[in-house]
Amino acid sequence: MEVIKGTRLFNLDDRNAISECSSILTDGGLVAFPTETVYGLGANALDAEAVNKIFTAKGRPADNPLIVHIASLSQLDKLVLKVPNQVKLLSDRFWPGPLTLVLKKKEIVPDITTGGLDTIAVRLPDHKVALDLLNRCQLPVAAPSANLSGRPSPTLAQHVVTDLGGRIEAIIDGGQTGVGVESTVISLVEDRPTLLRPGGITYQELTEVLGEVDIDSAVKAELESENKSALAPGMKYKHYSPEADVILVEGEAERIAHKITKLADEYLAEGYQVGIMATEENSNFYTAGQVQVMGSRDKLSVISANLFRLLRSFDDSGVDIILIEGVSNQGLGLAIMNRLRKAAGYQVIRV
Ligand code: TXA
Ligand code: MG
Repeated sequence: MEVIKGTRLFNLDDRNAISECSSILTDGGLVAFPTETVYGLGANALDAEAVNKIFTAKGRPADNPLIVHIASLSQLDKLVLKVPNQVKLLSDRFWPGPLTLVLKKKEIVPDITTGGLDTIAVRLPDHKVALDLLNRCQLPVAAPSANLSGRPSPTLAQHVVTDLGGRIEAIIDGGQTGVGVESTVISLVEDRPTLLRPGGITYQELTEVLGEVDIDSAVKAELESENKSALAPGMKYKHYSPEADVILVEGEAERIAHKITKLADEYLAEGYQVGIMATEENSNFYTAGQVQVMGSRDKLSVISANLFRLLRSFDDSGVDIILIEGVSNQGLGLAIMNRLRKAAGYQVIRV
C-alpha cells in the first residue's frame, strides 16, 4: 500500500484492501473503487454526513443526485417504497451490470443522497472488487464517478489519484475498467419507463425486455440539436471536459476525415497545438496534429473503453484544441456520442 498526499492507494495484492476500505466506509469515510463502467467514489448512502463529503471532494452541485450501489437484490426493499414488476425483468437480465434504476425512495435514504428528490437511483455493479467491498461492509454505497465535477470519468486508478488524491481516504486500484462509459439510467417511476442517460446497456436491449421505452426530452434534444444555441441552459454545464477545447465532427466517415484535416491545418497555422481523436479507419489519413486512435467504427465497445482515458491523455500533451470524430448513434454509440457532445460543450459540426 502506498500513501499519496494522505490518500491510501491499495492494489489487489494488498490482502487487507477490502477489509480496510470496508472499515473506512463504515466509519463514514470515502473510498474510490473500480466498477465495470468507471471508478466510483463511495460513501455509506444512509449516512448524510458521509455523503456530504462526496459532494465536497468532487465539487459537485448539491442538486445532482448520486447512484446507490448494492450487492444483492435483497438490499433493494430497504431503500425503495415499491418494487415494480419491471425490476424483476430488468435485474434478471442485466444485473449485475451497467444499468441503474430510478425508483421511489424510502424515508431512511437521506435527502442529500438523492439531491432532494423523492426518488433513488440504484444499481448492482458487475465487478469483483466492487462486489467484495459491498458484501464486506453490508451497506448501500452511494458512488458517483470518482472524478472532479466536470472532468472525464476515471477509467484508471491514476485518474482518481490525479483528481482526488489528498481529498479522500482511499483508492483501490483494480486496473482499467471494462465498459468505459457509465451505466444506463432508466426511470421506472412513471407509467412508462424513461431512459434518462444512455450508457453501458443499450436502448435496444432495454426495449427487448420492456417493450416501449421513452427517451427523456433532454437526451432527445441533445441528439437532434445542431449546436449548443438550440439547447436548454441546464445542458450547457461543463461535463466530461479535458483542459483543451473540444470540437466534435459528425457525419459520414470520409467527410469527417476531410473536415478534421482542414480544421487541423487552420488551427496549426494559427499557432495552436492540435489533438485528434480518430477512428482506426481514418487514423492514417491525418498527417498533422497529435493523433490518438479510439478504435474501429465496427467495435464501439473498444471506443467506449478508450474514450475517457484518451480525452484525459491530451491534458499531459499540452494541446489547445481536440478534434474528435463522431461515430454512429446506434448501440453503444448512443452513450459514446452523448458523452462526446457534452465533452465538446455542444460545439458540434455536421458534415
Ligand atoms: O456507471 C455508473 O453509473 C457510475 C459508477 C461509479 O457506478 N456512476 C455514475 O455516477 O456515473 P454519476 O454520479 O456520475 O452519475 C449519476 C447519474 C446522474 O446523471 C444523475 O443525475 C442520475 O444518475 N441520477 C441519480 N439519481 C437520480 C434520480 N433519483 N433521478 C434521476 N436521475 C438520477
Ligand atoms: Mg459522473
